[in-house]
Amino acid sequence: MAFSFSSLFSKEVKSVLGVDIGTSSIKIVQLRREKGRVVLETYGAIALGPYADIEVGRATALPAEKIAEALKDVIREANVTTADAAISIPYSSSLVSIVTLPASVEKQLATVMPLEARKYIPVPINEVLLDWFVISGGEGEKNASPTGKIEVLLVAIHNDTITKFRSIASTANLELGFFEIEVFSAARAALDHGIAPVAVVDMGAATTKFYVVERGVIHESHIISHGSQDLTLAAGRALGITVAEAEQRKRKFGLTGDIATAGIANLKQSLELSLGIVLSELSRTIAAYEAAKNQSLGALVLTGGGATLKGMKEFAQKSIQTEIRLADPFSKTQAPAFLEEILREAGPEFSVAVGLALRRLQEIG
Ligand SMILES: Nc1ncnc2c1ncn2[C@@H]1O[C@H](COP(=O)(O)OP(=O)(O)OP(=O)(O)O)[C@@H](O)[C@H]1O
Ligand SMILES: [Mg+2]
Repeated sequence: MAFSFSSLFSKEVKSVLGVDIGTSSIKIVQLRREKGRVVLETYGAIALGPYADIEVGRATALPAEKIAEALKDVIREANVTTADAAISIPYSSSLVSIVTLPASVEKQLATVMPLEARKYIPVPINEVLLDWFVISGGEGEKNASPTGKIEVLLVAIHNDTITKFRSIASTANLELGFFEIEVFSAARAALDHGIAPVAVVDMGAATTKFYVVERGVIHESHIISHGSQDLTLAAGRALGITVAEAEQRKRKFGLTGDIATAGIANLKQSLELSLGIVLSELSRTIAAYEAAKNQSLGALVLTGGGATLKGMKEFAQKSIQTEIRLADPFSKTQAPAFLEEILREAGPEFSVAVGLALRRLQEIG
């Protein structure tokens, strides 16, 4: 899928590209700033399945060259006009932990964190890139650290991952502004500035990622080992159709099943059954979080391609108490009015790519 309307806008240089390399597809979004507004110039997605000789919608594990080939293809199809890019790093290639330390070491984190990280990171420290932010109790806060403790978010990414993503970027002729772990990009694009803790639920192909965000900081994360491809595989088996056919029907009908075509009732039943497994694990995750923190979540924001399943929100709301919203990242951008509905529907799939491009725009000011 690709759509371009950059020709509608006058040519100007400051365009940026957000690149989200997922396990099942690559998503890209090109934005630029114009008179203080963020303008959507083009966007596109390309399935990686065909580059791995498997079906569209399934998770892949491709070498850098194949990913770069797909990235070049989608850049061409979407008529991207900038090389200034930011790329997300998969959450699974990173290690994110919250480290509690005495407030007295806040000024020495540069020396303390690499030592501290050894306790949390299962590989030698010189094999990872480390980053950290103080998330609570720091000096910037009022009543800094009544407990004498600070909480520091520690992020580690393996050097091999960095090398792989750098090589993908350079093969695709992109100039890399930064890498960011997808969690942070998705949160930026999918959330408004609320106070209450909100969970972002990113339903990808093989997994569903859950993270709690409070005052802009990620506080908790959890991976559910079921994703949207499980719905397709189960529907294929239940209906006795190929995976490719099941994927097409899943995308076309979703949970609506409102068309009296043979087999549609079964499709709905099968999808609801598989989705039920993801939702009950999600409920358990929410309950565990709320019990541990003794605090309710304000809302769940659904994102990722799996969240675009027709009827998803209504169905999920039946079994989950917390208010459910669908991510609408394109609402943070300006686009022609006739695209509004398409962008709202496709939005969840593009949260990470939009979040990356938004940060890059801010950086180049
Ligand atoms: N219209 C749709 N209806 C239902 N499911 C859809 C639709 N479009 C895409 N999907 C599903 O969304 C999944 C892919 O979502 P997404 O692109 O967010 O995953 P990813 O980023 O590649 O995966 P991950 O984040 O886990 O690496 C696929 O399994 C696909 O079948
Ligand atoms: Mg993804």
